[in-house]
Amino acid sequence: MKKKLKSGVTPGPFIESVLFDRTRIADPSHYAFDLPAIRGLSKLDLHPKVTFFVGENGSGKSTLLEAIAVANGLNPEGGSRNMMFATRESHSHLHQILRLRRYHALIPDAWFMRAESLFNVATEIDSLGVQGSYGSRSLHEQSHGEAFMSLVENRFSQGLYFLDEPEAALSPQRQLEFLVVIHKLLGLDSQLVIATHSPIIMSYPKALIYSFSDKGIAPIEYKQTEHYRVTRSFLESPERMLEHLFKEGP
Ligand SMILES: Nc1ncnc2c1ncn2[C@@H]1O[C@H](COP(=O)(O)OP(=O)(O)OP(=O)(O)O)[C@@H](O)[C@H]1O
Ligand SMILES: [Mg+2]
Repeated sequence: MKKKLKSGVTPGPFIESVLFDRTRIADPSHYAFDLPAIRGLSKLDLHPKVTFFVGENGSGKSTLLEAIAVANGLNPEGGSRNMMFATRESHSHLHQILRLRRYHALIPDAWFMRAESLFNVATEIDSLGVQGSYGSRSLHEQSHGEAFMSLVENRFSQGLYFLDEPEAALSPQRQLEFLVVIHKLLGLDSQLVIATHSPIIMSYPKALIYSFSDKGIAPIEYKQTEHYRVTRSFLESPERMLEHLFKEGP
């Protein structure tokens, strides 16, 4: 990954905070305004380097990540700002009430990626005929993890990146390599917002971790996260945990 500072562009960070204009909510009982984590929210500060969204399944991480990405002009289905393919229409209207407090108006590069979007992004890249800057082979001819790593290593540089569960593609070893990619991107003054369940990925030190729950969204220390504590306690003694889980018998 080369240092590709684009001339005349002030480097990141880009987004200081996300404001929720609740006066614009037409129907508070409508999806996503009704989610417990999002219901009482009026402002969310982002870390200038990396912000992690963690929490239980269904707590609203992807919904909020997608809304912030869409408020930044990105396709809810994923990809870069040039990719506006559409295969479904299921995203929430949450982005319509978001206001972004920016450090800079100009963002050199921006992407929104989640596991499901990689396939469509690969198709779009093939159809645009710009494969060269994404590694030597079509992303379709690479495994999920290989395609994801070649995208982030070859295409991401200085920008604003929203990633939903990057670990879905990555082995533990590749997750460690992905920490190095994060580190390099931050060296280029990028800013990242990442929803993750991976105790490896959320360990990145220069980060703010937000925990999503029924009580709302609150900062949490890495070692206090359920992901860290449950994984640690499982790996300390898988036998003990399994015995506890199966104690009722088959
Ligand atoms: N298009 C939709 N329409 C209505 N409800 C939805 C829609 N998408 C998600 N939901 C609901 O909103 C809630 C939050 O979903 P979301 O995908 O944001 O959770 P998440 O925190 O990302 O979970 P996970 O960790 O499983 O990815 C869920 O209860 C889900 O059922
Ligand atoms: Mg999700």
